[in-house]
Amino acid sequence: LLLDFDIAKQTPVSKYEVSPLPQVYDVETLGTQEVEGLRNIGLDAVGCGTVAAVIMSGGQGTRLGYPGPKGMYCIEGLPSGKCIFQIHIEKVQKVRMLAAKHNSSESLPSIPIYIMTSDLNTKDIVNYFTSKNFFGYPSDDVFFFEQSLQPCLTFDGKIIVESAHSLSLAPDGNGGLYQALQSTGALDDMIRRNVQHLHIYGIDNILTKSVDPTFIGLCINTNSECGNKVVWRANAAEKVGVTACRDDRMCIIEYSEIPPHLASVEDPNGKLLFGAANICNHYMSLQFVRFVVLPSLTQSYHIANKKIPYYDPVTSTTVTPTKENGVKLEMFIFDVFPLATRWVVVQGKREDEFAPVKNAPGSSSDSPDTAREMMSAQGRLWLTKAGAVVGNEHGCCEVSPLLSYEGEGLSQFSGVVLTPPFYLE
Ligand code: UTP
Repeated sequence: LLLDFDIAKQTPVSKYEVSPLPQVYDVETLGTQEVEGLRNIGLDAVGCGTVAAVIMSGGQGTRLGYPGPKGMYCIEGLPSGKCIFQIHIEKVQKVRMLAAKHNSSESLPSIPIYIMTSDLNTKDIVNYFTSKNFFGYPSDDVFFFEQSLQPCLTFDGKIIVESAHSLSLAPDGNGGLYQALQSTGALDDMIRRNVQHLHIYGIDNILTKSVDPTFIGLCINTNSECGNKVVWRANAAEKVGVTACRDDRMCIIEYSEIPPHLASVEDPNGKLLFGAANICNHYMSLQFVRFVVLPSLTQSYHIANKKIPYYDPVTSTTVTPTKENGVKLEMFIFDVFPLATRWVVVQGKREDEFAPVKNAPGSSSDSPDTAREMMSAQGRLWLTKAGAVVGNEHGCCEVSPLLSYEGEGLSQFSGVVLTPPFYLE
């Protein structure tokens, strides 16, 4: 194992020499025609069946505290009562509809969805999809694939035992994706289907534009092997990794590792120079995954300090510690970014694209409540722009992804008075 932390001293061993990103595409500042052109490129690719969604759902979601896979979590107060999986699946379904319309096709193109699970949640997720009839999505186009587990270690490197008969195991991080794609046959399935473009994202951001045609179009148009969708950091202390450049390659610096003197540097317009927050929203060409990433993969792990349940042989019980007592070994999806020679960073608006469900209900940031509020604010804005009169500023406004993907197609509500809470299908 090649750990990038000194376990004994608990400090990073490696230091980064980074520079700001030479270019960031911001869809807001591109002309309407240019955006339309990129979107059309993305929709053409979807129409040809060459685009797939890869949803990372193998994490344990410990901070949320929900006793099940995060995708099955239903955010309280959402009028539709939908779980997070359904929100994402419906967005992909909508992109199929948009692509069919764009290509004047009567049938919907196929967008295969690859869902990464781990042995700790596969059964729950597969059974859930089956019980929900795959939320109306063609089940042939949904492929579950399992990432590996790794043993958890004490701070001095011993394997932790969870019960008298089992080790304490944890998923090997979202960077376990690449090996998992290969070992489970998901990659072969992609090749068989002639998939060429992957939109890879985490399950927990309910505002992700799943299979975003504009982002994918931009990555295709720039012939990029890898693309990273970012939002700008709210402030220099926000706990989110930052996209930067090292030796002309894209890299991610963990927030804990960005040198403080760099974190707050601003450009002449007052924008943080190292502000491109990584939101787990990536494009990769299949060629890149197959011919660059997979041949270069190493068994190289980051360590994450965690509270790891352990077996107490005296009481013969499993104890859940209140303090961090060991480490999990994780690879990160972005560890391979520096392998890409052609790459692109695309900035989206936080209020349009980033509402993660990370922390427990009631937390002040990145919680189900903040995510619901952001989703509601987005729905309210779309409807108001379409000419609707939306009252009760405290009620939740939910617009189904099947009705509108990014605010389009709502003109039927012009002049209509709507009183939240409501759900528009
Ligand atoms: P996070 O780092 O937020 O982890 O994952 P998490 O498991 O969801 O939550 P905590 O840290 O335990 O509270 C970001 C994305 O990567 C996926 C998660 O499911 C989420 O979509 N992930 C993470 C995996 O698929 N596998 C992993 O091993 C870790």
